[in-house]
Amino acid sequence: MRPVGRGLCLGIETSCDETAAAVVVGDGTVQSSAVASQAHLHAQYGGVVPELAARHHVAAVLPTVDRALEDAGVAWEDLDLVAVTRGPGLPAALLVGVAAAKAIAYARGLPLVGVNHLAGHVYAHALGVPPGVGPDPLPRPAVCLVVSGSHTDLCLLPAEGGLTLLGTTVDDAAGEAFDKVARLLGLGYPGGPALDRLAAGGDPAAVTLPRTHRPMAGPRRPDPRLVAGPFAFSFSGLKTAVATRLDNGPDVPPADLAASFQAAVVDVLVTKTMAAADAYGVGTVLVAGGVAANSALRRTLQAACASGGRQSRFPPPDYCTDNAAMIAIAGWVAHRQGRRDGWDLDAEPNLPLQLP
Ligand code: KG4
Ligand code: ZN
Repeated sequence: MRPVGRGLCLGIETSCDETAAAVVVGDGTVQSSAVASQAHLHAQYGGVVPELAARHHVAAVLPTVDRALEDAGVAWEDLDLVAVTRGPGLPAALLVGVAAAKAIAYARGLPLVGVNHLAGHVYAHALGVPPGVGPDPLPRPAVCLVVSGSHTDLCLLPAEGGLTLLGTTVDDAAGEAFDKVARLLGLGYPGGPALDRLAAGGDPAAVTLPRTHRPMAGPRRPDPRLVAGPFAFSFSGLKTAVATRLDNGPDVPPADLAASFQAAVVDVLVTKTMAAADAYGVGTVLVAGGVAANSALRRTLQAACASGGRQSRFPPPDYCTDNAAMIAIAGWVAHRQGRRDGWDLDAEPNLPLQLP
């Protein structure tokens, strides 16, 4: 093993519909990040088909690892660590990555670390900007909004370390709402990026849509503080309002409806994130996950932070959506904190957001 911070980690990610592999140095420098998207396979079904996703990962995982090594210009014997997403995600899809990572680590005699996918999204903030090699490269204290296709989690990163979950969604995740509304508008799958593009030419004030700032407690999450408190989210009513408007008219240009929907989601996300930053007196706001690539969210949150004298940080768009570089850097952090998983490492489809 090379000196701390100089070693190379192979990261593997197969939690949903991207097969990804990356080689990342311990200081956050990305040597390669290969992503093989399956989106075209699932598009005809309007969403991810789990069985199809797992089968495609089986076919794609080793070629994607090969590509990551080749792009990085490194050989198997140059690797020092293997990190893999262990959850949350689709069970059969996760198992493919976990099995591949175990086989590689076993064959090469390398340490293996299982990574929480959502922590990976958060640690995308430690990529590319050499943060040094302290035990935890995240800026602290900070509020962090994690918005993906399956999660909407608002959390606090306290100065002393760790993570406190402040609120989550009672129903649809933000990305799920984007995908469902995009489907209603006939934009195909995955809908978020297409809706973002369509909304750019629309009027966000054209249609009045509900902002659910205080959702009712729902049955899906057991902790009433997280589902009913000020930092809980709900997006299914907004999606229904768009569907109702489409069914009952009057007709509205699709770009205007897309822009109005996007403005409503962004308004709720930004209002709650800024309220959390106020409540906890922190000056740094991080956003992570696929929806962090959304242009309106980036613009609006940046403006809200700037006007309140705060710093906002978004990873580059390629590190917002699923990738294995974020898994590799989170693997380094866990490894430096002493984590090493055994050959009994298993997929954990329902893992909640936790840092290593
Ligand atoms: O983090 P991610 O790649 O996968 C999960 O862990 O779920 O997030 C995917 C989600 C999808 O719902 C996709 O539509 C959404 O992120 N997304 C966007 C944009 N890019 C990706 N949503 C809105 N605007 C975008 N530009
Ligand atoms: Zn993700």
